[in-house]
Amino acid sequence: MEKAAKYEIDTIYPNDLDEIVAIENVSFPSPWPKRIFEREIEAKNSYKRVIRFSGSVVAYIVTWTIYDEVHILNIAVHPDFRKIGLGEMLLRDCLSSSLEHELKLVLLEVRVSNSSAIKLYEKIGFKTLSVRKKYYSDTGEDAYVMMYELVSENERELF
Ligand SMILES: CC(C)(COP(=O)(O)OP(=O)(O)OC[C@H]1O[C@@H](n2cnc3c(N)ncnc32)[C@H](O)[C@@H]1OP(=O)(O)O)[C@@H](O)C(=O)NCCC(=O)NCCS
Repeated sequence: MEKAAKYEIDTIYPNDLDEIVAIENVSFPSPWPKRIFEREIEAKNSYKRVIRFSGSVVAYIVTWTIYDEVHILNIAVHPDFRKIGLGEMLLRDCLSSSLEHELKLVLLEVRVSNSSAIKLYEKIGFKTLSVRKKYYSDTGEDAYVMMYELVSENERELF
């Protein structure tokens, strides 16, 4: 019997980049060009993943690790696969991987108008730390800086 198709989190490989760029282009007003993804997937010790469905890339996340901080640089889900939990699946996997690596803080910037992304981050437990005025040079829009403190279950029990 044929195995049912599943959503699977996987490493990003160079062969994935055309599919990633296609999602990027329909997801952002100023999409990253392919060469930025090429550079980012080379970065050692940073969390970057895709979700595959029936052999196709349907979502991705790219982060940087600096000291004990994770910076979420990019996350997007193919428009046909939104609102079914894939963004949340990638973020939760990123948080648990970061916790395993004993990292302390996850940070990101988001356009103040991007209510779906803000709702996703708030659902997971991110808090708004500050506003960066006119952060986005394409539209002059402000960014919220959002953060999530990584605390192990053991530490949580102490409070
Ligand atoms: C933001 C984005 C990644 C969310 O991905 P997604 O897979 O559709 O989100 P999920 O299905 O995992 O949603 C999880 C939660 O996020 C919130 N959310 C996601 N999309 C939403 C929407 N369109 N409206 C309101 N809330 C939304 C909800 O709280 C949702 O939980 P619920 O289903 O229990 O209500 C996706 O919309 C996307 O790719 N947008 C374009 C790229 C982008 O803006 N990236 C973020 C840059 S900072």
